[in-house]
Amino acid sequence: MFEGRVALVTGGTRGIGAAITQCLVESGASVAAGYSRGKERADEFVQQFGDKGSNVSIHQGRVDDVNDCNRVVKEVMDRFGRVDFLVNNAGITVDKTVRKMSVDDWRQVLDVNLSGAFQMTKAVLEHMIERGSGRIVNISSVIGETGNVGQANYAASKAGLFGFTKSLALEMAQRGITVNCVAPGFIGTEMVAAIPEAALAKVVEKIPQRRLGKPEEVARVVRFLLEDDSSYITGAVYSINGGLDM
Ligand code: CAA
Repeated sequence: MFEGRVALVTGGTRGIGAAITQCLVESGASVAAGYSRGKERADEFVQQFGDKGSNVSIHQGRVDDVNDCNRVVKEVMDRFGRVDFLVNNAGITVDKTVRKMSVDDWRQVLDVNLSGAFQMTKAVLEHMIERGSGRIVNISSVIGETGNVGQANYAASKAGLFGFTKSLALEMAQRGITVNCVAPGFIGTEMVAAIPEAALAKVVEKIPQRRLGKPEEVARVVRFLLEDDSSYITGAVYSINGGLDM
């Protein structure tokens, strides 16, 4: 399906990002997966692709550092010669109630989740414009719509991605570039596993389907948005949350 295409997936070696990398490689794409820490683990991640390993590269860099963003894109261009798809997936949580949240806790999350997406987008955008084609998918969250106790910083960053997506989609609408958002609910990843047990039990109780989502389920929505046949979808938000926002 994606033979000859190149995807750059930030945070692409863990959690939802790892599932996206896997899904796109299985669909024939070459994938450059970004990661910020844990080189050993990232190396192990690549090894699992076996004979498809040459279609996967890993790139260390912080999306909240503009120099890292530009360097990573240069590395990907050197390795694969093009970037067709950018998936802004890298994200962190620093969960605290606003009363306990420091300015630094706030900034850290906004810098990675929101400014990171902006900076990575800036780093690939001119290349996509030159080629007159590209796909950008921003991974937001149901929390950006609903808010959540202990997640004012995260919710603000994920809500910010909705506005960023729609604004960029408008700017790129006549340039062959689509920009969309995927907003997952609670997905079975390390991020969700870190929620205190009692809080997690309450979360699952609130999900109409009474289960966590799977990273692969989110990856399939991302893949759908990257398909050639999805070219009329832009500025959209695709929710995948077991009914949590109803
Ligand atoms: N409504 C309003 N306030 C509530 C509340 C509720 N239902 N439950 C707890 N609180 C408030 C209390 O009023 C109190 O507030 P102050 O700090 O202002 O005094 C505080 O919470 C007390 O809570 P705790 O005693 O449990 O102590 P804490 O401060 O250590 O932890 C917490 C609070 C950070 C919210 C913690 O319970 C927590 O981490 N909860 C989970 C948050 C969560 O769901 N994160 C999702 C991570 S996964 C993800 O983000 C992926 C995605 O996209 C979905």
